[in-house]
Amino acid sequence: MWDFPLLAPKASKQAQEIDLLFWVLTALTVLFTLIVFVGVIILVVRYRATAKVDRSNAPHHSTTLELAWSIIPGILAFAIFFWAAKLYGDMYTPPKDALEIFVIGKQWMWHAQHPNGVRENNELHVPTGVAVKITAISQDVIHAFSIPAFRTKRDVVPGRYNQMWFEPNRPGKYRLFCTEYCGTKHSEMVGWVYVMEPDEYQKWLEAGGSGTAAAPTGSMEEQGKQVFTQLGCGNCHGNKSSAVKAPPLEGTYGKKVQLVDGKTVIVDESYIRESILNPSAKVVAGYEGPSNTSLMTPYQGVVNEDQIMLIIAYIKSLADEKPKE
Ligand code: CUA
Repeated sequence: MWDFPLLAPKASKQAQEIDLLFWVLTALTVLFTLIVFVGVIILVVRYRATAKVDRSNAPHHSTTLELAWSIIPGILAFAIFFWAAKLYGDMYTPPKDALEIFVIGKQWMWHAQHPNGVRENNELHVPTGVAVKITAISQDVIHAFSIPAFRTKRDVVPGRYNQMWFEPNRPGKYRLFCTEYCGTKHSEMVGWVYVMEPDEYQKWLEAGGSGTAAAPTGSMEEQGKQVFTQLGCGNCHGNKSSAVKAPPLEGTYGKKVQLVDGKTVIVDESYIRESILNPSAKVVAGYEGPSNTSLMTPYQGVVNEDQIMLIIAYIKSLADEKPKE
């Protein structure tokens, strides 16, 4: 049977907008192709070698025509450029209140974690009607997180958090792909996205997921706090610190901090991650050791991406607290 859809289903707000751009581009392409080809065919037939037509006084210049074929396509090209650039910019600028889901790509599977701690593999459950932000990182090589039904994808690279977002608007089951060749089993790095009604999603979350999802042992924050304690981070960060004076973590997420080299940096996911793995990269002013390096031990090779993700969730949860010196 014919079961080979040429177009992916549309299941997000973005999908409608991007499809509209796609069809306008297609229509313009067809229109200009027709103009050129119909013109060529008419001229070829009319002025064929055996035709008896008037070939004298052939015009070789028409300012009106030249202006028209420059200005009209020029306006169209700029309109398409600004329209597409706007869509592209929006695609990668998640709204502030978006529901955040962390994704880790590894050879060869997708691993997702919801804020309440529910984890799932090669599956992603999302609700309709809300903006969903994906913060993704790779544990090994470059992957790409792609959901054709949402018309969205983003490279998932090692060493950096990449974000994308979408607003699902049609419940159903849609395909999830890795669209960056990442080794032998790249083609098996696929899964399913389940779009659910918000109340169903809430029930699913509270039930601790289903399918490949594992029941949480606490929210990401709580798990992050555990990791934080296990690693002894609180010995230096926090009010009980006695050994080494370390910058307080309360109330820092999303804020600007002054660095020892005079620059400033926004405390975001990437900065926290970098500071855990390589603390000397960007040292907060006033907390530097000899030759402006950090007094903290680098945790490169000690913590994995899952743990870093959890620690970040914990530090984010401290965003509204007052720093304790
Ligand atoms: Cu991961 Cu291809």
